[in-house]
Amino acid sequence: MTTPSDNKRGILRYTTFSRLNHWFIAFTFVCLTLSGLAFFHPFFFDLTALFGGPTMTRILHPFIGVAMSLGFVVMAVRFFKVNLFKRHDVAWVRRIGDVLANRDELAPPIGANNPGQKLVYWVMLLSVPALLLSGFFIWRPYFADILPRGWLRFSSLVHAYVAFVAIVTLIIHVYSAIWVKGSFRAMTQGRVSRAWAKHHHRLWYDEIVEQERREGGERGERPLDEHRMPDKETP
Ligand code: HEM
Repeated sequence: MTTPSDNKRGILRYTTFSRLNHWFIAFTFVCLTLSGLAFFHPFFFDLTALFGGPTMTRILHPFIGVAMSLGFVVMAVRFFKVNLFKRHDVAWVRRIGDVLANRDELAPPIGANNPGQKLVYWVMLLSVPALLLSGFFIWRPYFADILPRGWLRFSSLVHAYVAFVAIVTLIIHVYSAIWVKGSFRAMTQGRVSRAWAKHHHRLWYDEIVEQERREGGERGERPLDEHRMPDKETP
């Protein structure tokens, strides 16, 4: 996440690198869900066809998991600061009824991420390492056979329960992204309109306007207003 920029193209919300990394995580996560479901219940067994058959699915699933986790570490570090809960988030949560009833103009202003987005981040931050660790313990032929049986059984349970939590969280995340119009543009094109930023993330928008004013002042220009934006990008 980063700050302003360009008058015509809108405010920069996600850099190209962040977007590519996010979509890599999204793609691998969906692959993990499909291949994981295929092992989970015979009803989903046919999903193995997507990965070249049952044996290939079994081989690929843990490697995709490691790749997803590496991408996730990068995302977790980059988005850590904006996902710390702040005092103003409490007031927003108290008005969650208005937000869900599409009266979000009544909810108090929030920063770059709302508490719901922050919760998604934290649930994933706990789930991904738990899935990775429990996945290692049940990974055949590398680790599962050299560890005690009890570990294997316990890790299988943890893996299944945490996967369930992560998948439900992902469904909520995707639903919210569709529900809040303009969010997809943020993650595909990287930029959002000033009106979107002002409406959905007022405190973040105010910070950007303040930064523009400061940068404009340093350059000896008159203070920037809504219609004059700096050219410089700080990804
Ligand atoms: C098909 C799957 C996915 C879709 C369609 C999707 C969509 C999106 C969109 C549209 C945004 C921008 C929201 C905004 O700026 O207001 C976003 C942000 C984000 N996504 Fe995803 N995403 C997907 C999968 C994932 C997965 C698997 C993870 C993590 C494991 C993830 C973690 C995040 C994070 C941390 C952000 C930053 C802001 C936030 O916390 O909402 N996403 N996603």
